[in-house]
Amino acid sequence: MNVLRPGLALDAMLDAIHRATRAPEAERPGAVADAMVPFLRDPTLLEGRDCPSCPNGYKRHLLHEGADYAVVALVWRPMQMSPVHAHRAWCALGVHRGILTEHFFEPGSATPRPVDAVLRREGDTSHGVADPRLIHRLANCSAEVSVSIHAYGLPFARFAEGLNHILA
Ligand SMILES: [Fe+2]
Repeated sequence: MNVLRPGLALDAMLDAIHRATRAPEAERPGAVADAMVPFLRDPTLLEGRDCPSCPNGYKRHLLHEGADYAVVALVWRPMQMSPVHAHRAWCALGVHRGILTEHFFEPGSATPRPVDAVLRREGDTSHGVADPRLIHRLANCSAEVSVSIHAYGLPFARFAEGLNHILA
């Protein structure tokens, strides 16, 4: 009998992400996002991992720490959202469960103006290089909890001070 071991899909995704982080710098965010795709819709992806939501805001859960990157699961209750921000490190994300809305903002003004919004559904990805002009916000505008997988090009311990340039 073939018994699936909990964590198998996550291990395979993390291996694929690790290989993608070795891509040339300019191609890295897209390569990492592409590496997530085969695993994002697997319902067993986070089996055995305790990833609760939080009533006070979206919640990060560390899945893996590499030498120069980290992979986290973000859990979003309805109407929870990130700040408006740009990244100081490359980033790639994919939606595992639910729907997120990614808003993009025009750079250059004190109060960033929204210019576009894209629905990210299960299996969808997005990515970006470290660029202060690439301003976005993720939000769960749905009525269900959403879960997304994010990889960032810096160690988890530096997330608090080094990851996001928050604009609003
Ligand atoms: Fe972001």
